[in-house]
Amino acid sequence: MRLRHATIADIQLMRRWNEQPHLAENLGDDDWQWETELGKACDWREQFIAEIDGRPIGYLEITDPAGDPEQYWGDCAPNLRAIDIWIGEESELSKGYGTQMITLALNRCFAVPAVTAVVIDPLAKNTSAIRFYERLGFHTVGPRRFDQDDCIVMRLERAEWHGLS
Ligand SMILES: CC(C)(COP(=O)(O)OP(=O)(O)OC[C@H]1O[C@@H](n2cnc3c(N)ncnc32)[C@H](O)[C@@H]1OP(=O)(O)O)[C@@H](O)C(=O)NCCC(=O)NCCS
Repeated sequence: MRLRHATIADIQLMRRWNEQPHLAENLGDDDWQWETELGKACDWREQFIAEIDGRPIGYLEITDPAGDPEQYWGDCAPNLRAIDIWIGEESELSKGYGTQMITLALNRCFAVPAVTAVVIDPLAKNTSAIRFYERLGFHTVGPRRFDQDDCIVMRLERAEWHGLS
């Protein structure tokens, strides 16, 4: 597996994936605004497509919540990272790809010495994603409402990341 930066050329792929039922029900009401956001250069966010043998299988976004101009995470401490992740096609779930993707992402986050922890915000009803994150070492911070979505904030401290291979 490799992560490559997403570009605006991936827009049809992203639109198709966002229509998949397993994503529509688990990604909440966020409008990802791909037309303006996909591949846009900025210093607080990186967007990736995960590929296996050149075949795109998932999307991954790493953000610096304190640098986000829209302050999605609110008034946030510096030196955190937030991750959004999904597998595009339902047929590709539960094959270990998500674990591989987030392992690459967490290694990338913690490669920055100043980064202290990574946060995520699965929907409260998304119990399989919550279990997925718990298995990686994330702990639950608590419930939080983001816009229309009831979420669970989870967090992985640098010392809790043991770098699955
Ligand atoms: C959450 C998500 C990214 C996890 O990715 P994934 O590729 O399905 O996860 P994995 O395959 O690595 O692990 C999931 C399960 O498969 C199992 N598994 C891992 N490797 C496996 C393999 N090689 N073969 C078979 N099963 C495997 C794991 O044990 C795990 O089981 P469990 O959670 O039922 O106990 C994915 O389910 C997804 O995109 N969900 C929809 C969108 C979403 O919820 N995103 C998160 C929003 S916060």
